[in-house]
Amino acid sequence: LTLSACGRDQTVKVGIENNFRPFTYTENGENKGFEVELWDAIAKKAGMKYELVPMGQGELSQALQSGKVDLVVAGMTVNKARKDNLAFSDPYFQTGLVMLTAQDNTDIGGKDDLKGKTVATKLGSTAYTYAGGLGTPKEVVGYPDIDEAYAALASKRVDCVIFDERNAREYVQGRGQDKVKIVGEPLNKESYAIAAPKKNKHIGPINGAIEQVVKNGTYETLYAKWFGG
Ligand code: ARG
Repeated sequence: LTLSACGRDQTVKVGIENNFRPFTYTENGENKGFEVELWDAIAKKAGMKYELVPMGQGELSQALQSGKVDLVVAGMTVNKARKDNLAFSDPYFQTGLVMLTAQDNTDIGGKDDLKGKTVATKLGSTAYTYAGGLGTPKEVVGYPDIDEAYAALASKRVDCVIFDERNAREYVQGRGQDKVKIVGEPLNKESYAIAAPKKNKHIGPINGAIEQVVKNGTYETLYAKWFGG
């Protein structure tokens, strides 16, 4: 008997991001995060052997298209533009973008207050597209790493950061404590899903496995571990 016909004996290369806390990040050479653990559960259910390939967000889509990786599990928001080039699994996380300002800022309470302001975020992210679409800010600065945007805000080189809510919250409660705050309500609704090239044989089994890890309670356990229930 050989299993090679269904490809189950092949190792799937999975692109993850090296700095998207608490979803996927690399710390002391170790890959950690909610998605790293969720993916492991999904892969086991789907009977897929895999190898993680950590990289910067900017490299993820390219790595998929060039075949350097077979899948991306990295807080990737599903949207129309990306669907033109990539296939996505069923979504497994609902979230949205939020605005952050300096702790003592009093003149920015929502997106309508960004006229003439400087906004920072991560290059290539949905937040970067969103901020660019506002039209009112004086400048939208895109950094390759979101930590550079947060640092620019903490030292008041920019007026506002727009980024994914859970990542922003982690920064506000951690390194950004007493320096920055989240203002207003989330700006939109986004969902994360696993991405693959259009032509792939993985999304079907992955969707089945996502359904199972939700049903058997694994999803809830991991959610409570990483997001406090
Ligand atoms: N959710 C946002 C996006 O898809 C930001 C994600 C940041 N990291 C990542 N690896 N996609 O653009």
